[in-house]
Amino acid sequence: MNYYVLTLFPEMIENGMNTSIIGRAIAGGYLSLETVNIRDYSLTGNGRIDDYPYGGGAGMVMQAEPIFRAYEDLIRRIEKKPRVVYLTPQGRVFDQRMAEELAREEDLVFLCGHYEGVDERVLEEIVTDHVSIGDYVLTGGELPAMVMMDSISRMVPGVLSNQESGQYESFQDGLLEYPQYSRPEDWRGKQVPPVLLSGHHGNVDRWRRDQSLFRTLKNRPELLAHAELDKKDRRYLQSLLDEEGSSGLTAEEKKFLAKLLAF
Ligand code: ADE
Repeated sequence: MNYYVLTLFPEMIENGMNTSIIGRAIAGGYLSLETVNIRDYSLTGNGRIDDYPYGGGAGMVMQAEPIFRAYEDLIRRIEKKPRVVYLTPQGRVFDQRMAEELAREEDLVFLCGHYEGVDERVLEEIVTDHVSIGDYVLTGGELPAMVMMDSISRMVPGVLSNQESGQYESFQDGLLEYPQYSRPEDWRGKQVPPVLLSGHHGNVDRWRRDQSLFRTLKNRPELLAHAELDKKDRRYLQSLLDEEGSSGLTAEEKKFLAKLLAF
């Protein structure tokens, strides 16, 4: 996977990406990263790339031409026309499925905006995907681009070790991760759940699956509604409904569960 980032803050992208697992993957040649400083394509040669908005209003707008020149220069050099992702709170909301889809591309360009926005005409001209990382507003597109590159990269072969990729499975199932424990067995009076010390792999797997189901029900019930549930999953969820008071579920959660199990 080759990433190209058009930005006013290349050092922010490079510092963020050259660390930890992603840094290791770049060093190992599984990923490549090139940042392009939009300021180098300023019209005036003095680095200015923004101007006042037509129609008035607060803030400045990034002009079309420097961005377009930066983009044109890039595609001329790489001799390809990859998808161009523009980071914006007005875009489609990023999720695991989109990460999986984008991970199948060979090259991706990210365009990071700043100030009050970017001249719409250059967006119309070069952007293929408008993407938001969630319903909140950030000061620029650099962090969202890094969030996307991080989660896309995890799915690029060679980026994660075998051990690391195992950790990804449970979200792929559409359920949240089960809780993890390490030494010591007794930490400040809090015990590791006994089943994890039992050495019985079948029981451990069942317990973990049940924990995933429980957490998903508590924190993200809408995910549970779309997850694939087998007979044993349903039996566990039914047991939560049948328990008198001790299940830790609210009346609302029980109602949701009853409806889910009725199908
Ligand atoms: N730019 C500013 N806020 C953003 C968000 N939530 N997602 C993507 N890009 C953004």
